[in-house]
Amino acid sequence: MESQTVKWKHYFLYLAFIYAILYFLHTNLLLNNRPIRIKKWPHLPLRFRHDGTFKILQVADMHFGSGLLSRCRDVLPSHFHYCSDLNTTRFLKTMIQLEKPDFVAFTGSHLANSSVLNLFFLDSGDRETVQGVRTYGWIKESQLNWLRSASRELQVQNQEVKYVIKTQPVDASAALAFFHIPIPEVRQLYYQKFVGRFGEGVACSSVNSGVLKTLVSIKDVKAVFIGHDHTNDFCGNLEGIWFCYGGGFGYHGYGRIGLARRARVILAELRKGDKEWMGVERIKTWKRLDDENLSKIDEQVLWELSPSR
Ligand SMILES: *[C@@H]1O[C@H](CO)[C@@H](O)[C@H](O)[C@H]1NC(C)=O
Ligand SMILES: *[C@@H]1O[C@H](CO)[C@@H](O)[C@H](O)[C@H]1NC(C)=O
Ligand SMILES: *[C@@H]1O[C@H](CO)[C@@H](O)[C@H](O)[C@H]1NC(C)=O
Repeated sequence: MESQTVKWKHYFLYLAFIYAILYFLHTNLLLNNRPIRIKKWPHLPLRFRHDGTFKILQVADMHFGSGLLSRCRDVLPSHFHYCSDLNTTRFLKTMIQLEKPDFVAFTGSHLANSSVLNLFFLDSGDRETVQGVRTYGWIKESQLNWLRSASRELQVQNQEVKYVIKTQPVDASAALAFFHIPIPEVRQLYYQKFVGRFGEGVACSSVNSGVLKTLVSIKDVKAVFIGHDHTNDFCGNLEGIWFCYGGGFGYHGYGRIGLARRARVILAELRKGDKEWMGVERIKTWKRLDDENLSKIDEQVLWELSPSR
């Protein structure tokens, strides 16, 4: 009889748990009371807007835990009791409503292409062991081979398109890359000019697999967006390619007390031809803080088509 009661208790707790999850999903995944449809793949091909722009929201370190039950890290003591993952979902919702991005970039390995702007997503792994020593993951040779061939294929397609529509000299196609863990060269940026905050050491792998060399050789990647170190949010330039941190986004991930959680926005603008939109003319970025004004900071132009054309 005793064990029967325990069984029912467990059963009840289990039901309550399922109900809590359903309730959470129902109340939190609604945007303007319309459910968010989560699509694994965006509509392809990606399209620029009628004004010739394409906007990406980078969510570098979302760190979603278990919803209402997750404690926030590194917030003011007075905020601690009223803070959970719901603050993270609210920030995401606010950012989507305010910036209306065409694409939200979380990390993973795949390709999204719009024929003028290509987005490469590379999975930099998590932790690995090299000769008995634990270190962070890195981008593998096989991924770099994939990147080289995808980039070449896209640039050939781009040339063909330009040839068919007989436009003036071809603009090299522009691409952006996204991955989670910074590459070792990002450390050097501390000694150079950078825009934003260098708040902590760069935590990267002890293995340098030649990502920078590959990116320089394929030529189309103008900027790389990384995460992992939540209190770094700067952009710095390595051999002509920008490396930008997104900054800490989620409240359950670590941060620094008094430092607002933040997100990076990336805007690509097309060049206006006589009758049609041409290739990408400019790539801009800025950040938004999760403060009372959703302050916009550190706006900068990352890349611009050289005016000599
Ligand atoms: C890029 O997109 C175009 C149009 O959607 C498609 O035809 C092409 O196969 C894609 N290229 C690659 C390399 O995925
Ligand atoms: C989290 O959200 C609650 C409820 O909206 C709010 O009172 C609190 O100030 C937020 N905390 C932070 C750190 O944004
Ligand atoms: C928000 O804007 C108001 C009015 O400009 C200003 O007084 C306030 O200091 C700003 N708050 C933050 C956190 O920047």
